[in-house]
Amino acid sequence: MVQLQGQLAGIVLVQWFLQLGSAAQIPLLPKSHTEGYKFDPLLHLPGISPYFDAIGSGLSHAAPKHCEVTAASYLVRHAAIYANDDDYETFIEPLIKKLNSTYTSTLYNKKRKGWNGPLSFFDKWEDPIDDPHNQLEQITPQGIKDSKKVGKHLLSRYPKLVRTTKRVYADKKARTKDTAAAFVKVFPQKIEVVEINLNRSSFHAQDPHKACKAFSKKPGNDELGVFTSHYTIPIIERLQGFSPVKLEETDIVGLQQLCGYESAIRGKKSDICDVFTDSEWMAYEYAWDLKYSHMVGHGNPLSPYLGFPWLKTTSELMSKFHAPQHTDDEIPDDDGQRFFLAFTHREVPPFIATALGLFNSSNAYAEEFPTDRINWSRSWKMAELIPFLGHVGIEKLTCNAVSKDPKDTREYIRVIANSAPRPIPKCQDGPGASCGFDEFTRIVRTGMEVYGDFDGVCGNDEEKEDEGEL
Ligand SMILES: *[C@@H]1O[C@H](CO)[C@@H](O)[C@H](O)[C@H]1NC(C)=O
Ligand SMILES: *[C@@H]1O[C@H](CO)[C@@H](O)[C@H](O)[C@H]1NC(C)=O
Ligand SMILES: *[C@@H]1O[C@H](CO)[C@@H](O)[C@H](O)[C@H]1NC(C)=O
Ligand SMILES: *[C@@H]1O[C@H](CO)[C@@H](O)[C@H](O)[C@H]1NC(C)=O
Repeated sequence: MVQLQGQLAGIVLVQWFLQLGSAAQIPLLPKSHTEGYKFDPLLHLPGISPYFDAIGSGLSHAAPKHCEVTAASYLVRHAAIYANDDDYETFIEPLIKKLNSTYTSTLYNKKRKGWNGPLSFFDKWEDPIDDPHNQLEQITPQGIKDSKKVGKHLLSRYPKLVRTTKRVYADKKARTKDTAAAFVKVFPQKIEVVEINLNRSSFHAQDPHKACKAFSKKPGNDELGVFTSHYTIPIIERLQGFSPVKLEETDIVGLQQLCGYESAIRGKKSDICDVFTDSEWMAYEYAWDLKYSHMVGHGNPLSPYLGFPWLKTTSELMSKFHAPQHTDDEIPDDDGQRFFLAFTHREVPPFIATALGLFNSSNAYAEEFPTDRINWSRSWKMAELIPFLGHVGIEKLTCNAVSKDPKDTREYIRVIANSAPRPIPKCQDGPGASCGFDEFTRIVRTGMEVYGDFDGVCGNDEEKEDEGEL
């Protein structure tokens, strides 16, 4: 109603301006782009939502004018899984047990009783994780479909480059291998899925958290707990009257997680998503941004150490293809592959973002994540980076805005996260806010000088590392 009144007022205003003859002051399309905005909880579930393209900072996703993408390398998180072990054990399983305790005794397994109001759908709701023993950590049929969609998207984005791909890389987990297999099915040529083991030096680049003894998933759990206790109090008050069982903090988190997982499993939005209000979802989102910040972001001193190896590998790789460096007898010693994919886990894109200062604010870290309220102006928004199939890539741009002469060609790189360019704060003077290639390699070299002691900070044994190449 308020909106309608607003629109009417707008129309009256427009007519008034037209009458005054000052139409020049009215925008061509007097419509706010936020008109019709609708809140969608699936865009606010860090780590557990189906894939969506990020809008990013608003830059065009296509290559800047006069530029062509001449090589690209991506790290891709695996597709949707039924649930991860920790989420299931801590939040989802206890909730399912409570739901199970409300089955009517005569019709066991058919109908639950005592659920009302916004929770009334639970009388017939079916658990999407009905075989946890075999499903946890495995990708879902919908995950396979979504992998193919993202694979097709990359093929349409880089039709020439994708054709050069001979190998893609996964690790030993079924979820990365299955995702890789689904991707390569939509590419036109035959592609080998190579399993990367700890004995390959590129394992550090692709799965750094698994190569680092000191890394743990625990950081941020305490802060997550404190904030969860805070934000779930009013939600429990609101919902308790509609539930036949006592709701606790973990049940609220479990419900919110099931919105993400069930939607990713079934390929359509779960009924549970409608239980919560927009601000309750924003509190969930904040809770997990807080957790991830401490675990894989700026709040963990290990993060840049774990992000730089991939940047180093990628910058060295791209340097081999760096066009102005090629002389006749200096053609890169490679097999022509210009598009690279490595399949990994949710931890890794945030390490890369942290190493480059993406999703980072210029303010003191301690200010960013209070545990008693939401920080609405934070820049660390992981829902946009690590949905299932979330990916971060580096594109090498070859540009020539001046002439046809190759000597006027310049090279840049651009970081892409879930389709959208993310300018590097320290280096953004190129076309489309890209970073000059030499400056990028310098940033990575300098970064490695500071954050290069991977085995040292990780407390890994001084074992011989096989220096196999990518
Ligand atoms: C819930 O009940 C179903 C049977 O209806 C059973 O298969 C499942 O294991 C139960 N889940 C839990 C977490 O107890
Ligand atoms: C790496 O380990 C795999 C098995 O885990 C083995 O097949 C392969 O030969 C090893 N590669 C090297 C170079 O040691
Ligand atoms: C990220 O932000 C912190 C302050 O919040 C700053 O100290 C740090 O240098 C930034 N990181 C990068 C890589 O720019
Ligand atoms: C929120 O985080 C920003 C940095 O992203 C910081 O400048 C600000 O002080 C924080 N606000 C609160 C209320 O903590």
